[in-house]
Amino acid sequence: MTAPLIVGNWKMNGLAADLGEAQAIAAGIIGARARIGLCPAATLISRMAEAVSAAGVAVGGQDCHAEVKGAFTGDVSAEMLQDAGASLVIVGHSERRAGHGETDADVAAKALAAVRAGLEPIICVGETLDQRQAGQALEIVTGQVRGSVPLALADAGFAVAYEPVWAIGTGLTPSLAEIEEVHAAIRAALRQIGGRAVAAPILYGGSVKPDNAREILHAAEVGGALVGGASLKAVDFLKIIAAAG
Ligand code: PGA
Repeated sequence: MTAPLIVGNWKMNGLAADLGEAQAIAAGIIGARARIGLCPAATLISRMAEAVSAAGVAVGGQDCHAEVKGAFTGDVSAEMLQDAGASLVIVGHSERRAGHGETDADVAAKALAAVRAGLEPIICVGETLDQRQAGQALEIVTGQVRGSVPLALADAGFAVAYEPVWAIGTGLTPSLAEIEEVHAAIRAALRQIGGRAVAAPILYGGSVKPDNAREILHAAEVGGALVGGASLKAVDFLKIIAAAG
């Protein structure tokens, strides 16, 4: 069985003083069954990579621009992330889709850019509470997968993260049956892409904590977790990683 992928998304948190948490995570994963990643703000990528790469922790960006370089003030390209020591990048997080107006087409272009630069994109999808309550979760999520995962990624390494918008940072999570239902629908959409995409890991994200990680990580078609708040403290993130074993 492929090792689960467990990635911490630090969002807009973390200063040099917090690198000790990343070092504690790196020191604590010896013997872990999972593949581990940490996605800090772009300002910390190179220092974090220096601190944790030797322990086998992958470092990633939280977003990238689709172009290699150019007049895009404030943006960071996938090539720049790779140059700074990243091997992963989150694209299409709901905080980017909602707060920065990113469309499926934007996300697909970023995912392609990531692969072009040698990064493994983690492509995020997920429905809002209104969409779930209207019975549209499967339709929305599979539509996002079709729109955000380019067919050209069929033979690239990538992951999809199912992150219901209403579960992010709220302490709420879907039932295991709901998670399994959405993951099965994502798997079916990936099968239509073919190639290696058929087996791409599907992570769950949204209020993953030490006390719910074990059941979520062992649910059908859950190939890992994308963890926000609980990845900021080594003690919590290490418990989530241990729950994968
Ligand atoms: P959370 O965030 O774990 O704090 O809910 C998850 C995410 O947004 O990736």
